[in-house]
Amino acid sequence: MTEIKQITVVGSGVMGSQIAMVSALAGFDVYLQDINEESLKVAEDSLHGHINKRISKGKISLLEAEKAFARLKFVTSLEKAVAETDFVIEAIVEKLDVKRQLFAEIDRLAPSHAIIATNSSTIVSSKLADATNRPEKICNLHFFNPVLVMELVEVVKGPQTSDETADTAVELVKQINKTPILLKKEISGFVANRILGALIDEAIYLLENDIATVEEIDLACTKALNHPIGPFALLDLTGIDVNYYIRQVLYEETGDENQKPQKVITEKYLNGEYGRKTGKGFYSYNS
Ligand SMILES: NC(=O)c1ccc[n+]([C@@H]2O[C@H](COP(=O)([O-])OP(=O)(O)OC[C@H]3O[C@@H](n4cnc5c(N)ncnc54)[C@H](O)[C@@H]3O)[C@@H](O)[C@H]2O)c1
Repeated sequence: MTEIKQITVVGSGVMGSQIAMVSALAGFDVYLQDINEESLKVAEDSLHGHINKRISKGKISLLEAEKAFARLKFVTSLEKAVAETDFVIEAIVEKLDVKRQLFAEIDRLAPSHAIIATNSSTIVSSKLADATNRPEKICNLHFFNPVLVMELVEVVKGPQTSDETADTAVELVKQINKTPILLKKEISGFVANRILGALIDEAIYLLENDIATVEEIDLACTKALNHPIGPFALLDLTGIDVNYYIRQVLYEETGDENQKPQKVITEKYLNGEYGRKTGKGFYSYNS
């Protein structure tokens, strides 16, 4: 198995910044690279804010935090960021052509032993692997938001991913103090988001068929299944507009009528009732 000493995270947004931080906190030398200098500055400030809160809560010591920040370098040069890397985690904008271009560039610049993983929520690694000359070293490494808090990471093996790459990725996830699960085959949505999607679909089916109300369905999930939040409250939190767009894209891609945004979601979307962000969704919120 490849020994990992240096990690490179490409893309310093919501996900990349915190992936870099958990890696630095675990003792790795980390480069966080972004093409946008402003985004790197925002990432640095936001990470200091998160870590200061952890220090004041006694979760980590000032010394640990200082050591982690000393191991974490914020750079705009991709060449510098990957020159001596062992493992690259890509967390840039969710666009296939931009990611393919980046993977080809990293492949050209990084040492031949380096693994290149994508944190994409929807793009499976086989769609990126053939942009490189190391397809067996390409896989998905899917973190959950917020990365500093959420423990699970899905490692997804594409048809081209070698066992050695998958094993190294699983081991790395453990080393950064997260819990890995290994998906032996690619599937869109991976495991956690597929299960969540099925739960939400069923909740909407029960509502649209007048079996129970929004409140009652949420109560069944919180009080019988012990979920921290019901599916409708969760839709309000993540945004009904986001759910609408995702289903619309899935429908356009597959042509499957079952993937179309459901009636209640479409109605709320067209009424501008997106959930918490607009003050009204399945529930009403006082601003
Ligand atoms: N946001 C989530 O909840 C979430 C959860 C899991 C996975 N993801 C996945 O993580 C990835 C990043 O999502 P995000 O929410 O952090 O995005 P974001 O928009 O917050 O950040 C993306 C960053 O990538 C940078 N970038 C764009 N093109 C680049 C390039 N060619 N080279 C270097 N940097 C570049 C941008 O400047 C920006 O700072 C996506 O693939 C997304 O599917 C997101």
